[in-house]
Amino acid sequence: MARSYIITIASEKGGVGKTTLATNLAIYLRALAEDLPVTLFSFDNHFTVDQMFRFTKVVENHHIGEVFTGVNPVELVRDGQYGVNYIPSSRTLFETQNQVQGIDHLARIISQSALQGIVIIDTSPTLDIYTRNALYTADRVIVPIKDAPSLENCRNLASFLQQQQRPKAVLKLLPCLIDTRIHFDGPFRNSYQLLKAYAINRGYRCFDGFIAKSPKVESLSTNPEGKIYPVITHGRQTDVHLQLTHLARQVYLDYLEQGPTRLNEVANDLYEQQESFLKGYNTRVEKIHPTCLACGISHPETGVWPNAWFVENESGQLSGFIEENCLFDMLLTDCYPELSGKDPKKLLQEILLDSTGSTLLLLQKTPIDEQRVQIALFRLDPQGEKISGRQRSVKKHKRFQMRGKPGVLNIFELIDQESTSRQQCLLLRPAGNQPLKMLHHHNYLEWKTIFDRVQIDLQLEAATAETQ
Ligand SMILES: Nc1ncnc2c1ncn2[C@@H]1O[C@H](COP(=O)(O)OP(=O)(O)OP(=O)(O)O)[C@@H](O)[C@H]1O
Ligand SMILES: [Mg+2]
Repeated sequence: MARSYIITIASEKGGVGKTTLATNLAIYLRALAEDLPVTLFSFDNHFTVDQMFRFTKVVENHHIGEVFTGVNPVELVRDGQYGVNYIPSSRTLFETQNQVQGIDHLARIISQSALQGIVIIDTSPTLDIYTRNALYTADRVIVPIKDAPSLENCRNLASFLQQQQRPKAVLKLLPCLIDTRIHFDGPFRNSYQLLKAYAINRGYRCFDGFIAKSPKVESLSTNPEGKIYPVITHGRQTDVHLQLTHLARQVYLDYLEQGPTRLNEVANDLYEQQESFLKGYNTRVEKIHPTCLACGISHPETGVWPNAWFVENESGQLSGFIEENCLFDMLLTDCYPELSGKDPKKLLQEILLDSTGSTLLLLQKTPIDEQRVQIALFRLDPQGEKISGRQRSVKKHKRFQMRGKPGVLNIFELIDQESTSRQQCLLLRPAGNQPLKMLHHHNYLEWKTIFDRVQIDLQLEAATAETQ
């Protein structure tokens, strides 16, 4: 699958020319290679990209923020002026930051999309979650520097890329907004030469050349029509036109030489991760006890019963499903024998079940003496904190309830017999209509995290009880 080559324009310093560079570079690249799709989008809160590229003033309903909500980026791409494609900007990026799942979210999404050619990402002057995503995804990061402070500001970007184990060569600096009228005495005759020398001295790579400060370029965004014009159409007579042409050539050559390596890497990692998730899932499915943990009836061929509960002991040695009917039968007899009336099982369900379906139950077995064990049942909140509970002592031999129905102790019997002398616990939760989903990587990870927390609480309780 052909993937796109990503160029991110970033700087923590505001007003250094990021957006001007991103928009114009897109046009110059398009001019250089007619058949090359170039797509531009911005995580900036200005609407320069939209103002410059959209054909009409039609208000857009879709925007870049939607890529993080599962919308295929290709569906968001619009045909823009000058042959450049763009994704409309968003006004609400700040409010929707929590939709971004990690710094690799954008990379994962674009690596699975059919976006082609070169993608240029404009960023805001902060290292927020969007900028970090744009940096993580990039084959090339271009940092405009206009003075010594903006050069100092590169440090955070460089160390972010280093933390993500990106090669140093990904980052390239470009002196921008250079006032060519200013001359110095000594070896560096102007601020371009001075900045470049500073940058190289600090171990950064630089593009050849610079972008000059030009009153004509500055005026392209202020005119009676309220438009933003590109340099290629309205500033051809300026030095900046030649400088952008020179820059676009360098960027294009880099693209031809390297190709879209970053997204291929991300896609491979994703593939390997999914393979390992699938392997983990299959191992967990294989470990599932073949029958209902209470009644011993085999799971139907299609999977497990729709109203099954997932049950596991603390070591994960016992892992299986139990039919809800069987579960409430045994809890009624072993833990709530006093419940009576027309439909005691329904009553118990009302006591124990949470309307959101996020109920967690903890069953605990503690040996008392040769003959007796204590059975405790706790209702937990979704984070694993105890809400309520009760305990009863049960005769060890009373594994079967009246009329031969299995009791709570039968489930504990399924766990390794060597451990019967110590306290044991089982965590249970309703597993919904597709119970095997519980075993998917993220669901199971969440389950394990809660179970670990429950066990820590139990250990703390035990330690506190010992010291009293
Ligand atoms: N080569 C140039 N010559 C003169 N003015 C320029 C040039 N490039 C950009 N400008 C002007 O400098 C200002 C800042 O540019 P721009 O918006 O591109 O910077 P930015 O880094 O994207 O800013 P922000 O961090 O706020 O997003 C704008 O008014 C723009 O018109
Ligand atoms: Mg900007």
